[in-house]
Amino acid sequence: MTIRRATLDDQAAMRDVCLRTGHGGQDATGSWSDDGLRPDAFLEPYVRYPASRCWVVDDGAGTAAAARPAAGPGLLHDAGTLPDRMLDDASAPLPAHLHVDMLPELQRRGHGRRLMRALGESLAADGVPGVHLRVGDGNQVAVASCRRLGFDERHDDDGYLMTIASQRLAAL
Ligand SMILES: CC(C)(COP(=O)(O)OP(=O)(O)OC[C@H]1O[C@@H](n2cnc3c(N)ncnc32)[C@H](O)[C@@H]1OP(=O)(O)O)[C@@H](O)C(=O)NCCC(=O)NCCS
Repeated sequence: MTIRRATLDDQAAMRDVCLRTGHGGQDATGSWSDDGLRPDAFLEPYVRYPASRCWVVDDGAGTAAAARPAAGPGLLHDAGTLPDRMLDDASAPLPAHLHVDMLPELQRRGHGRRLMRALGESLAADGVPGVHLRVGDGNQVAVASCRRLGFDERHDDDGYLMTIASQRLAAL
């Protein structure tokens, strides 16, 4: 397994990962009127935004695997300074919004930790101070993972706001 920056060739595989982990970490297929809506909203802006900082875990099939999502890059990780609609006043000091989604068969194998370390190194080098992510109350796996990785947390009506500085990610 290799962690590398995503390219537009990974897009189909990343859309698949986004959908199959999109419902509080579970498969979101069929949960909205159109399965393309979640990737359109939660993936495309990150992949296409200038200076994209998306990363994938590549299972060895390489970028060609993007055309074969089931065997392709299994994990999506993105972060960056976002379009206005993604900005969150509550986390203004750490404005980069993070999504990290991994297919079930790749979870709990240390890829999340390695991926976040790589991301932290690149964000710190680019002068991005840190990231935040939102986790719903029903996704206790993500909450436990973030706690274990050293994220700070706050809880409000929308669930958990998890934050961490890029330098801390880089030290994972
Ligand atoms: C959350 C997620 C990204 C974690 O990635 P991962 O690759 O499974 O995590 P890792 O194996 O690198 O583990 C990182 C740490 O979290 C802990 N952890 C992982 N899964 C855990 C679980 N189910 N319960 C408790 N702790 C857990 C690990 O013990 C590890 O700590 P350690 O290295 O000190 O042992 C992954 O579970 C996932 O993609 N879930 C589905 C999508 C999702 O919910 N994304 C978040 C949306 S906000």
